[in-house]
Amino acid sequence: MKVQGVVRPPGDKSISHRAVMLAGLARGTSELDGLLTGADVKSTARVLRQLGADMSSIRDDATVTVRASRITHPASRLNCGNSGTTARLMLGILAGQRFAATLTGDASLRRRPMRRVTEPLRAMGAEIQEKGGDALPLTIHGGRLRPLTYTTPVASAQIKSALLLAGLTGHVGVTIREPYRSRDHTERLFVHLGLGLHERDGAIVYEPSLPGRRGVVPSFRLSVPGDASSAAFLVAAAVLADGGELVIENVGVNPTRTGFLVVLERMGAHVERVNLRDEGGEPVADLVARPAALRGTEVSAAEVPTLVDEVPVLAVLASRARGATVFREVGELRVKESNRLELVAANLRAVGVRAEARGNDLHVEGGDRPPRGRVETASDHRLAMAFAVLGTLPGSDVKLSEQKSVAISYPSFFRDLRTCFA
Ligand code: S3P
Repeated sequence: MKVQGVVRPPGDKSISHRAVMLAGLARGTSELDGLLTGADVKSTARVLRQLGADMSSIRDDATVTVRASRITHPASRLNCGNSGTTARLMLGILAGQRFAATLTGDASLRRRPMRRVTEPLRAMGAEIQEKGGDALPLTIHGGRLRPLTYTTPVASAQIKSALLLAGLTGHVGVTIREPYRSRDHTERLFVHLGLGLHERDGAIVYEPSLPGRRGVVPSFRLSVPGDASSAAFLVAAAVLADGGELVIENVGVNPTRTGFLVVLERMGAHVERVNLRDEGGEPVADLVARPAALRGTEVSAAEVPTLVDEVPVLAVLASRARGATVFREVGELRVKESNRLELVAANLRAVGVRAEARGNDLHVEGGDRPPRGRVETASDHRLAMAFAVLGTLPGSDVKLSEQKSVAISYPSFFRDLRTCFA
């Protein structure tokens, strides 16, 4: 099939969460547009509203208005739905508040590890009670925090962001080192809003302007760029097509998020970036993607944080390459919305591809047999989309166990995918 036309991916999920949270903490009225209207960002908005934020619901045109209000004790549990970013970043925000709140989530989120965030927050002085071991539900009682200097055990933007938000709401300094640099949207937004963020000797440093005094987040306007992780599925569909060219407009191309494009280049697919511009401190471009013959590659541990959410779709592309591909040190995929490491391998095998997880590495053997079989998505949006892309190949017959999960990060995914081939 040939690709054609112009598509616009939805707003960046990571930036949308952060923008809604910071607007919820700001003094004055903030106006956000280009937001993701998916379920995860709605979870963040709902939790902030439960905490007293005066926020319109996210409108169909992806805008929201947030008016100044104080965060206060919630009347009931804060349900973060399926969203790990909501849970972990909200723990950071709550660490700086002098009241108790209980966070919970859906069955998938209640299986995901939280100590990676609660341990350093406890070291800052937050009181946290576990109800189910290293998982939600959790009750956090924040308040007087101490400054923290911390090296994260894994490169995780959620850990880093939770600690920066705790520093912000608790008015204390935070210095963070990571094994590899994870996505830096929180840092960019802090800098954009003049919130005392800088780098020193490779560490990320937050310093409140007046230590011990209430840090003021100014109200702001922001246009959120399109999500590079959502765009990746459209790029992949274009790369696997028989001909044509697809333009994907308004995509965030922050280098901490575009490892996918770097690896694709190595595999033999060049994706052009045109109309480079800046939006609220984030680089943005339009992408032009075309079909390509792919070859296998090795993805290094250092690259993983820059493409952590793109491993499923890259593995799908690797299954169509000449030769083998290995993804090194992708053990973190076990604790995403599903056990993505085992499920990517098992689902590739289910459609006739040789693939396996060996320790923390993922091995995929390329080939050209039409993929056929049933895929278990485990209600994981990125598995559903990655395998839907595989199902666009001529002669393929890929049946997904469900499709609804795409609403988490890309509600119009199937419509957009059809548009590319119309
Ligand atoms: C995110 C960070 C990543 C990513 C997730 C969104 C964020 O998780 O997988 O989809 O917005 O900070 P980790 O911090 O666990 O790597």
